[in-house]
Amino acid sequence: MATTSHNTPAPSDPAPGVRSVTSGDDAPTGIAAGARRVRVHHLQQAKERGEKITMLTAYDAATAAIMDAAGIDTLLVGDSIGNTMLGHATTLPVTLDDMVRAGRAVASVTQHAFVVVDLPFGTYEAGPEQALASAVRIMKETGASAVKLEGGRRSAAQIQAITSAGIPVVGHLGYTPQSENALGGPRVQGRGDDAAEELSQDALAVQEAGAVAVVLEMVPVEVAARITEFLAIPTIGIGAGPDVDGQVLVWTDMAGMTDWSPRFARRYAELGRVLGQAVTDFAAEVRTGAFPAPEHAFQQ
Ligand code: KIV
Repeated sequence: MATTSHNTPAPSDPAPGVRSVTSGDDAPTGIAAGARRVRVHHLQQAKERGEKITMLTAYDAATAAIMDAAGIDTLLVGDSIGNTMLGHATTLPVTLDDMVRAGRAVASVTQHAFVVVDLPFGTYEAGPEQALASAVRIMKETGASAVKLEGGRRSAAQIQAITSAGIPVVGHLGYTPQSENALGGPRVQGRGDDAAEELSQDALAVQEAGAVAVVLEMVPVEVAARITEFLAIPTIGIGAGPDVDGQVLVWTDMAGMTDWSPRFARRYAELGRVLGQAVTDFAAEVRTGAFPAPEHAFQQ
C-alpha cells in the first residue's frame, strides 16, 4: 500500500538505522561544489562549463548514503534494481511500488546528490495521462528530484506532460532495456548512417519535449559525441564513450559485486570478493566460538 506524501521524510532527514558516513566539515565536491544540493540548473551549467557529471545507480539507503557522502553528483534509482537486487532476469517485472520503495530509501539519506527515479515498464507507455500519474506518485512518495523514462519520439508526449507539471525528466536512448525483446537483447544502437540519424531525431525530440538530460546507452562513440555536440541538454553515457557530458554505471558493476561486468564498465573494487571473505570469516568465528568476544557482550 502506498504511503502518502506527508509520511515521506524530507530528503535531508537521515533514515533511522542508517549510519552516516558524511565526514562532518567536508564540503560537497563535483558539479555543484559549494551548493548544499545538486539542482537541475547545475546539470545544465556543468555542460556549459565542460564539467563532467557523475551518476551511479542506487537502490537502498545504506549504499546511497556512502555514494552521497563520497560526492557523486547524481543518483539513479534505476529499474536495473530488477536484475541487480530483486532477482529478475530483466527490468520488465519491476513495478511502480518497487521504484517508490527504493526511491524513498535513496532520497531519505541523500543530502547532496540529485536523485532520479526510473519509471518502470508499463507505467508510462499508454500515454501522457498514465505517465504523469506515475511521475506524480514517484515525486509525492519518494522525495526524488526527477524521473527517467525510455524512448525518443515515441515518448515525447509523455515527457512533455510530465515536464509541464513541473517535474524534471531525464530521457534514455540507445539500448533501452525495457525494449530488450524488440531490440534483440543488449546490443549497440545507432550503428550505421540511418540508425545514427534515427537516434539523433530521437535525441532532439526528447530535448524539445523538455527533458533536462538524456542517458545514451550502448551507442557508438562518434554518434554519442555528435548528439552531445548538437544537444543543448547534457548527455550521460553508459557504454557511449568519453565524448559525452557525464558517465553513469550500475553500481554493482562499478564495485565488482558479481563475477561478470559488461565490457563498458570498469571495476573500481572487488566488493563481491571482500563481502564473501567477510561472510566466510564470520561463519568460521561463530563456529569456533571466537565471535562474540567479551567486548561484544553485555554484563549484568
Ligand atoms: O536502470 C538503470 O540502471 C539505467 C542505467 C543503465 C542508465 O537505466
